[in-house]
Amino acid sequence: MRETGHTRSSARIVLGQTLSFGVTHGEVTHEEKGAVAIGADGRIAWAGPAEKLPAEWRGVPADDFGNRIVMPGFIDAHIHFPQYRMLAAPGKDLLDWLRRFTFPEESRYASPEYAAQAAEIFLDRLLQHGTTAAMAFCSVHKASADALFAAAEKRGMALIAGKTMMDRNAIPEVQDTPELGARESEELYRIWHGRARLRYAVTPRFAVTSTDAQLAASGELLKSLPDALLQTHLSESPGEIAFIRELFPDTKDYTDVYDRYGLLSERSFFAHGVHLSDRECAKLSETGSTVIHCATSNAFLGSGIMKFGHLRKAGRAVKVGLATDVGGGTSYSMLTTLGETYKLQMLGGCKPSAFELFHMATRGNARLLKLDHEMGSLEPGKFADLVVLDPWATPVLASRQEISESLEDVLFSLMILGDDRAVAAAYAAGALLHTKSSSARTGASHA
Ligand code: GUN
Ligand code: ZN
Repeated sequence: MRETGHTRSSARIVLGQTLSFGVTHGEVTHEEKGAVAIGADGRIAWAGPAEKLPAEWRGVPADDFGNRIVMPGFIDAHIHFPQYRMLAAPGKDLLDWLRRFTFPEESRYASPEYAAQAAEIFLDRLLQHGTTAAMAFCSVHKASADALFAAAEKRGMALIAGKTMMDRNAIPEVQDTPELGARESEELYRIWHGRARLRYAVTPRFAVTSTDAQLAASGELLKSLPDALLQTHLSESPGEIAFIRELFPDTKDYTDVYDRYGLLSERSFFAHGVHLSDRECAKLSETGSTVIHCATSNAFLGSGIMKFGHLRKAGRAVKVGLATDVGGGTSYSMLTTLGETYKLQMLGGCKPSAFELFHMATRGNARLLKLDHEMGSLEPGKFADLVVLDPWATPVLASRQEISESLEDVLFSLMILGDDRAVAAAYAAGALLHTKSSSARTGASHA
């Protein structure tokens, strides 16, 4: 990976209650009084109990968060940059929501100036919510991807993104063609993929808005661009699935459409997967494809309940990541997203633990996105992408902590009751990029 010209902060220590997961959510590393030592390169040099901080780090400037929780930053595995201000748009269902609100809003990103301003707001918002890395859709306009990549590079943030491709069933302002979409995607890949902490994802929006020719071109790009990823949508809502059946009458099912064009792979990410059949799960599993669950979006658009129990059936388990899907999703907060995931899974007959969900939002998503060599845990060598959570951030949370019985209980209360108010600070590659002025860096004890 090439280095950026970006200047990182100097070495520093972050003090707090440190928390990190191993490869599974059962492996929890927790220090009541922990320390993370960050080198001038923005990477973690050491993490462990503060009292064991190696001698050479003593005297290095420290950000002391008292007993707040210092953990790996959240990773949002599916979000739409050009929808940053259209949360809470009341569509009847997915297709109505796209037509009435989404496509007109995304048409604004034809302007590079507008896209550049929006990119700063979008990344500010991610950090404010403790999200330090994301996999994002841009609009159909190449300028929107250039703007987002440039803004992320400037901040030292890790980002996977791609220019959306769509050549039918949308207003002309947000359409490209198979040739133009492929050419611009390849140009963007050549400029941004592997630069700083950025990666490119080939991004056909979904089979409703891409013709056979564009889906075929997407498959060619995935094959020909080394290490490029692929992101799209799959099996989200009943109306969408019925439309797919009309558009592709010769295919077995929705997943088969993508399979025909070579889009199922270890590097492929499918948002939603709410209504998948056993056959589709088996195919996704066999090809190493990942489904990204977006709870607040599925509830808001009335799409349905994606069940972990169904996706993870033994013998054909599909890999599952978690995401906000802003602006179909109703919150930028991965804490809120974990809480809503918990509620939907309870409705779907399964009760995920707080450890499991926090693991999925950090190391789990990092692993799926093939970013776990550089983020997702507090291990030496990884970038210091950190979130600092305040379990006492609101009166309701503070009261709840009076009866919290364990670390897991505190995390559970944070995901059910917390949001950006509970995010005291966020760091990307060791740089403190967000602090909540009322609570950050005071070191006050709430014991
Ligand atoms: N399917 C195709 N495009 C979109 C989108 O922008 N949001 C959601 N939730 N689903 C989609
Ligand atoms: Zn989406």
